[in-house]
Formats: sequence, structure tokens, C-alpha cells
Amino acid sequence: MAASAATVTLAGAASTANAAPTPDAPSLVKVAFEVNGDKRVLTLDTRTTLLDALREHLKLTGTKKGCDHGQCGACTVIVDGRRINSCLTLAVMHEGDKVTTIEGLGTPDKLHPLQAAFVKHDGYQCGYCTPGQICSAKAVLDEIKAGVPSHVTQDITKDPKLTEAELRERMSGNICRCGAYSNIVEAIGEVAGGLA
Ligand code: FES
Ligand code: FES
Repeated sequence: MAASAATVTLAGAASTANAAPTPDAPSLVKVAFEVNGDKRVLTLDTRTTLLDALREHLKLTGTKKGCDHGQCGACTVIVDGRRINSCLTLAVMHEGDKVTTIEGLGTPDKLHPLQAAFVKHDGYQCGYCTPGQICSAKAVLDEIKAGVPSHVTQDITKDPKLTEAELRERMSGNICRCGAYSNIVEAIGEVAGGLA
């Protein structure tokens, strides 16, 4: 009798060990991308956003989480040359991509020209939106240089001019609760060599 009870117990343990994952168990996957010039490989829950991968897994906390819903722009990073809201995209979608965060643009000892201009023009108060503003501004200047039109471009058959209206339109996805908008425009305009 005792032997058969032990058999029953062991059989139960084996079946627990081999049990299929419950529906709630995370599905982990390996993802490799380049972040600020460094190759990074992470094993992530497939539901992890790029924003959380950067902040929670790589400890790159310069990129900020504001709304986590694609509405504030605080989480803006540059992926393969284009700005995106990192809260709206899954990390696993960026296998092989090149990601640039605010930490990759400049350092406290060697500021990116946009960072220096934001300091000079008081382009921030609390600074929470600032990393996103600067990543966005960097991509905006590249977009204008590449001739990408915006909603306010008057003539889309010509290269867009760097006007205040263009800058404000293109930066409109980056919300600043401190209302530093005028100074942000001045800072970006200076780096661009002046507004048209
Ligand atoms: S945190 Fe991503 S848009 Fe607000
Ligand atoms: S500087 Fe405070 S939210 Fe923009």
C-alpha cells in the first residue's frame, strides 16, 4: 500500500513539472538591437514596450514615460533615423534596428548642439519633456533637410522652409506642461541657423 501511495505522489510531481505554461505565463523572446552605438541583447516578455526595455532593462532613464499612450511625446527616441513614440511600439519589433536615445545624442561634458541651445534659451523648466523634445527636434531638422513635407507646408512640390509654423507643427506631438514652447522654438531655430 505504502509503495503505491509513493508512486501516486511521484507521478503527480512529474506531471506538475511537465505542465504546459498557464495562459498567463510570459512568453520570453531574445531581441538584439543597437542602442546608442552599442549592440544590446535582451530576453524580454514579448509584451515589453521599447520604452520599458530602454528604461527598465537597459537603465537608460533619460527617455521619459509621460502618458504611456502615445499622447505626450516624452518617450520620443530615434529609430533608424526616424522619431517614434517608444511607448507605442514593442521592443521585439526592433530586432536589428539602431536606436538613439537622449544619452546617445550628447553627454554632460559634450552636449549636442540642441542640448546646449535648450540650456541657452531656457527651453525647459521641469525638464521632464526635454529628452523627447530634443530627440524630436533632431529628427525634425533631418526631416526638413530631407524635404519631407508637413501638414502646414504650403507647396509640397518644393523643399519645406524652416519657418516657425513648420517647427511648431512638426513639434506638436511633444507636449510641454511647463509651456516652454517659445523658448524651444528659439533653441531649435538657432541650431538650424535661423528661421526663414
Ligand atoms: S509616454 Fe509615450 S507618448 Fe507619452
Ligand atoms: S519642461 Fe516641464 S514639461 Fe516641458
